[in-house]
Amino acid sequence: MNSSEKNTLKNEKHYDNVYSKVNVNNILSKLENLEAFMNDATRTDTSWVGLYHGDFQHQLKGKKILELGCGDCTNAAIMAAYGAEVYANDISQKSGDIIKQLNENYDFESEIKFIEGDFLKSELTHDFYDIVVGKAFVHHLTHQQEIEFTEKIVSILKPDGIVRYFEPAVNNKFLDYLRWLTPVPGRPSKIQRKKFKQWKLNDPHPDRDNSSKHYEKIGDTYFHTTNIVPIGSIERFHRILPRKHSRKFRRFAFRFERKLPNLLNSSITRSHLVEYKQPKK
Ligand SMILES: C[S@@+](CC[C@H](N)C(=O)[O-])C[C@H]1O[C@@H](n2cnc3c(N)ncnc32)[C@H](O)[C@@H]1O
Repeated sequence: MNSSEKNTLKNEKHYDNVYSKVNVNNILSKLENLEAFMNDATRTDTSWVGLYHGDFQHQLKGKKILELGCGDCTNAAIMAAYGAEVYANDISQKSGDIIKQLNENYDFESEIKFIEGDFLKSELTHDFYDIVVGKAFVHHLTHQQEIEFTEKIVSILKPDGIVRYFEPAVNNKFLDYLRWLTPVPGRPSKIQRKKFKQWKLNDPHPDRDNSSKHYEKIGDTYFHTTNIVPIGSIERFHRILPRKHSRKFRRFAFRFERKLPNLLNSSITRSHLVEYKQPKK
């Protein structure tokens, strides 16, 4: 088995376990309160602030969208509730089970379609999708997988199609070093060598380059336009505040960050929105 296959298997095992605990009622309740949920999440929760930057929810209606690494399927369901025709893929079959329950319990304009198994092996129509979306997905791929995924994405996107990823960013070696030194729930500090080694064995993230420069390089190779928006340069510091102030601080930080020079934002950001436009066919 090569390193990409090992990585996929590790992800499948890890996320089968995570998604077997998903309560679909929680997702349905977000759909029932769509505007209230989005109004809060897109101002406060990093992956939603990032993916929906620039009012993405109002660009969805009628679009054919493929979500890769759809996970617990909350985002696939939200996009479908906004009127998109959503196709969703994940290596975990549990995502397919969740989609089935969502389709049975919510009256989407167009039911969500699950693309089962390995995206690279799926037979998909060329020049078909308007948008390919990934939320916290690409950093789970090895570099080799990322290239293979990108080449396939280029072939299935329409000529004016776009890719939109929200991903963690590692643009600053010193901040990243501090991050690994700091233990968080479920992940020991790198200086606790034995514990860290054990944790790493089950960690579904391959070692790879997660910098904005890396995504720029992929974008320049396969697309005519690449746009990267740093998200979380100030927000990332919410972790050092008491929990009770966290949401308020994050909302403030996301607004404040936009006023900073892009170079500063980018150099210390914790994540980024990656947009690729017009695939080079
Ligand atoms: C961090 S989770 C993000 C899930 C979801 N997008 C979200 O925002 O909550 C990463 C997802 O990528 C999926 N994944 C990892 N490798 C994959 C692959 N090769 N093909 C499809 N999905 C994969 C995992 O199963 C997992 O659901």
